[in-house]
Amino acid sequence: MRDPVLLPPLLRALNGEPLATPPVWLMRQAGRYLAEYRAVRASAGDFLDLCHSPDKAAEVTLQPIRRYGFDAAILFSDILVVPDSLGQKVTFAEGEGPRLTPIRTSEDLAVLSKIGFQDKVRTVWRTVSLLREALDPNVALIGFAGSPWTVATYMVEGRGSKDYIAVKKMAYGDPGLFARLIEILSDATFDYLIGQVDAGAQVLQLFDSWAGVLPEDQFRRWVIEPTKALVQRLKAARPGIKIIGFPKGAGVLAEDYANETGVDGISLDSSQKLSWAVETLSPRFTLQGNLDPILLVSGGPALDRAVDHILEVTKGVPFIFNLGHGIVPETPPENVAALMKRIRK
Ligand code: CP3
Repeated sequence: MRDPVLLPPLLRALNGEPLATPPVWLMRQAGRYLAEYRAVRASAGDFLDLCHSPDKAAEVTLQPIRRYGFDAAILFSDILVVPDSLGQKVTFAEGEGPRLTPIRTSEDLAVLSKIGFQDKVRTVWRTVSLLREALDPNVALIGFAGSPWTVATYMVEGRGSKDYIAVKKMAYGDPGLFARLIEILSDATFDYLIGQVDAGAQVLQLFDSWAGVLPEDQFRRWVIEPTKALVQRLKAARPGIKIIGFPKGAGVLAEDYANETGVDGISLDSSQKLSWAVETLSPRFTLQGNLDPILLVSGGPALDRAVDHILEVTKGVPFIFNLGHGIVPETPPENVAALMKRIRK
């Protein structure tokens, strides 16, 4: 065990410290690529039932920590727990991704209610406390939520989307109505994240998976502004909390996102030029990323080269090794072991 008087490496990196060996965790490190996950998943019934079963959710969170010794555990849950807990109907059909009863009008919006929200998400907070008790103090515990924009895309589209027509139609055509949805989501997400911090989460990651589909002015309005307000409220309420933002697909707008939202760390997707991020954002922001998750499927020399490149470019700046997006189910678990070995060699 490493020296327990020091902060866990992930928190040192988020405090702006460059580490000779960067801390590492992987988005979707718990999931279907692991046989032990599939076993618990099969015993849980519905995917959302798994998210609301503290013992099982804690167990699947810990599985990749035991296997690989990551520097951080990320709470096992889902960004769609928030709309579900606000009263929107959310289901996960096997192999099809999420389905929601879409919200398109102000009448639809009326199904959302904060009454009962806290009781619904209490199970997730319970998972966080179980995790904090179980984890070695050197392993940081990350809580998370979807950013209002990304969660709203699912709520309005009713499912994952390719073109985002329904949600853009609302955001561009009826910004007053869309702002009400963003407001409801921001408020619920704040409560949800404060509960995670009070249960033991030391870091929060805001997943904005679809930040990259908006033009600049709309990005500012629906990604930067709500994120900035949320980060300000969280930091005012819990001053020590570290926040990582993941504006996937934002391109050069990631610079404005970092400068304006008040996040401590910025998670970069695989299309971002890492040397640009180092020059532009380090050391004011801790960088995280950005290995292409598909390199973990193919493995071999291409994986090794990409890992070495990332380590080389980020040498001397505060950095957290991660992927540019989540691990996919096709990933051979031994490639993750090879990755860990290479990072820590
Ligand atoms: O990273 C972790 O290990 C923690 C768990 C986690 C999950 N979802 C578990 C999950 C996290 C952080 C998420 C975030 C999430 N969920 C995002 C943002 C990150 C990203 O991937 O862009 C989004 C957009 C969602 C919504 C979501 N949940 C979709 C689109 C799907 C279906 C796609 C799929 O892989 O099946 C999910 C389901 C989901 N969330 C699974 C897991 C492990 C797979 C469902 C299963 O096990 O049956």
